[in-house]
Amino acid sequence: FVESQWLPFKAAIDSHLHKTWSATSIINGAAIDEYKTDGQVNNLEAHTVRAPWNHDVIAGEVVYANADLAQQATLAAVAGQAAWQAQSAAKRAAILRKIADLYEENYAELMALCQVEAGKTMQDSIDEIKEAVDFCRFYADEAERLDEVVHEFTDLSGKPARQVYKARGTFVCISPWNFPLAIYTGQIVAALAAGNTVVAKPAEQTSLIAHFGAQLMYQAGVPVEALQLVIGAGEVGGALTAADNIAGVIFTGSTQTAQRINQSLNSHAQSSGELPILIAETGGQNAMIVDSTALPEQVVKDAVLSAFGSAGQRCSACRILCVQEEMADDLIELLQGNMAELSVGNPLYAATDVGPVIDADAKNGLEAHIERMRAEPTATILAQTPMSVSSVVSQEKSTFVLPTAIEVKSIDVIGGEHFGPILHVLRYQARDLNKLIDAINSTGFGLTLGIHSRIENSAEHIERRVLVGNTYINRNQIGAVVNVQPFGGCGLSGTGPKAGGPHYVARLMKLDNDNQPS
Ligand code: NAD
Ligand code: ALA
Repeated sequence: FVESQWLPFKAAIDSHLHKTWSATSIINGAAIDEYKTDGQVNNLEAHTVRAPWNHDVIAGEVVYANADLAQQATLAAVAGQAAWQAQSAAKRAAILRKIADLYEENYAELMALCQVEAGKTMQDSIDEIKEAVDFCRFYADEAERLDEVVHEFTDLSGKPARQVYKARGTFVCISPWNFPLAIYTGQIVAALAAGNTVVAKPAEQTSLIAHFGAQLMYQAGVPVEALQLVIGAGEVGGALTAADNIAGVIFTGSTQTAQRINQSLNSHAQSSGELPILIAETGGQNAMIVDSTALPEQVVKDAVLSAFGSAGQRCSACRILCVQEEMADDLIELLQGNMAELSVGNPLYAATDVGPVIDADAKNGLEAHIERMRAEPTATILAQTPMSVSSVVSQEKSTFVLPTAIEVKSIDVIGGEHFGPILHVLRYQARDLNKLIDAINSTGFGLTLGIHSRIENSAEHIERRVLVGNTYINRNQIGAVVNVQPFGGCGLSGTGPKAGGPHYVARLMKLDNDNQPS
């Protein structure tokens, strides 16, 4: 990040950095900070949010909903369905475009929130807001596009008929903390674009950003009945996915949680007869395959960005750099040099490349994996970038994980997805390329793939055989752009349809045959 480009924005963001924010659930427009039952007022669970890069910095207070409130929110969204669905597509689109405008106008506060609550670097915070804005404008266009008649025909009685898209009903939108504004907003505005009402349950780690985003959505004209906000952890998410009368769940997060939600929807469907749809975008075990014709400097630049950008907390991140034996030694040396240049530390500094991970659970899990690999006889730690001198914070008061590269002899030894700044390096022989491809496919994940090769046929061969949603050739493998690289995986990585693509909003609608008056 070039610091001089940043300076004009810095003052605006700084003015928000010392704020403390708060977040409650919002049901039919009312902030819910207490729970009344049998005439009695009960306090709800409250949490203090601390910056992951320095726990002495307090970002705000968050009040969790309980299962009863989750049910009230769902009933409110179901009750609001008819009115929202009756709005014209043009009106819905106009509201979504207004959300985009308000996000842009409030970029400074949104960036401050991304930095303080989610620990995002400056560049990541900018990208976060940009992607959220892109989702609003693209799905607004989609609302209008899908409002057209799909097909005109004559029914069996000779009457003219037509096929049109219609809203499905209420969607529960459950989002992760790693894209606390972009994915959270993308899910909500896609459902709203389709004419569906929404109960949104953002990740508990980033409720402040979500609450501020929801306020901007109401300000843009989203009716309070059409969007209900439920703040809380996984239990309250579980209550929402078991609610009656929902048309579906849009989920982004871990594969395990998606599997739990799927079971909940299935068992619920058996008891109620309804079959809500599930759209799940989940984890990845993403590889970058590099053959001996690749340009080593370019490979290392792309691998480092893909593995350590956003502190490795991207589902798309490169987790396994697979390098053809002939160039492996040189490439590892370059990798070590490049990692030594990374600046790890306070995300408020424009020069920081790698910020903290989200919380202590994440840090402990990632460090446990590094220690397991240290003890593993077939694995070797190749490099570990220290904290930059200018931003050393006590380990007890922050959640930094040092960017680490580990050479492994097989993919199996890695285990599942390790969601942080850890890159595994695997050498392969050219004659074993197909075995490598089988090993990548056998993880069951299928999210992103990077290929570096200057031979078109080789790249094509790999691209055709590795089963993933998004393949990137001779570049990095993160940062899919809305309506340019529709994003989503297959297998354990997701159900599709790809977010930011032409099938997403349509999937949230149903095709109806309308008879025309003759
Ligand atoms: P997570 O599954 O722990 O949580 C995601 C959301 O689900 C949170 O809002 C959480 O409160 C909620 N939740 C947890 N248990 C639940 C339950 N039983 N029922 C309903 N909701 C529940 O995931 P995370 O740690 O927040 O996010 C990281 C994961 O997300 C990684 O695996 C990453 O790869 C994945 N991810 C995927 C994509 C994609 O587009 N494929 C994008 C971003 C993140
Ligand atoms: N869409 C995000 C990326 O491509 C997950 O990195």
